[in-house]
Amino acid sequence: MINFTIDGKPIQLEEPESILNAAKRLGIEIPTLCYHEKLSPYGGCRICLVEAAPGSAPERSKLVPACASRVEEGLIIKTSTQRVREARKFNIELLLSRSPDSEEIRQTAREIGVDPDNRSALDSVGEYLLYRAPRIRHTKCILCGLCVRVCAEITERDALCFENRGMKRRVVPPFDKVADTCIGCGSCAYVCTTNTITIEEVT
Ligand code: SF4
Ligand code: FES
Repeated sequence: MINFTIDGKPIQLEEPESILNAAKRLGIEIPTLCYHEKLSPYGGCRICLVEAAPGSAPERSKLVPACASRVEEGLIIKTSTQRVREARKFNIELLLSRSPDSEEIRQTAREIGVDPDNRSALDSVGEYLLYRAPRIRHTKCILCGLCVRVCAEITERDALCFENRGMKRRVVPPFDKVADTCIGCGSCAYVCTTNTITIEEVT
C-alpha cells in the first residue's frame, strides 16, 4: 500500500499512479492542457504543476507536473498553494504570448486567474512577456504534442513529429511532406487542444 496526502487529505493506493489521477479520486481538479488519459504523459504545458515533498523532508517541496509524476509513499502533495498558482499563471502567460487568439487557452487562463485581455496589468512577469511578445510568432498551436502522440501511440502511423527547438519548434509531417503513412483518420484533429488541426475533404 502507498500512503500519501493531497491537500492534507490522506489517501491510500495499492498501485502507484499519477498525482493527477490520485487527485481526481479525491475530487480535486487540476487544470491540464497537454494531457489525455489514453496517451502517455508528456509534461509539456506545465499547467498542471503541483507542489510535492517527501514525508521525511516537507521543507524540500518542488514543483512537478501532476500528469507526469507518480505518487510515492509518504509524499505530501499540495495543489493550490501560492507557489503553485503563480507558476501556473506564469506558464499560461507563456502560452498566451504564443497563442493569444486561442479561445481554449484564453479560457484556461481565466480558470487559473489570468485575464487574457488585461495582461498589461500583470507584474514584472507580464512586462517581461509583453516585451518578448513581438518576437514570438503567433499560432494557435501550443505544442502540446497530443497530435504527435495519438498518431504514434493509437494509430501507429507516425505521420506527425516535432521539428526544431525553442521558438522555432513546430509540428510537421516527417520531412515536411504529407506522410505516406497518413490514412486521414482525423485522430490528430480530434485530440488537438486548440483546434489548430482541421480535416478537409479533397476532391
Ligand atoms: S497541432 Fe494541436 S494537438 Fe498538435 S501540438 Fe499543436 S495544439 Fe497540440
Ligand atoms: S497537463 Fe501536465 S504538463 Fe501539460
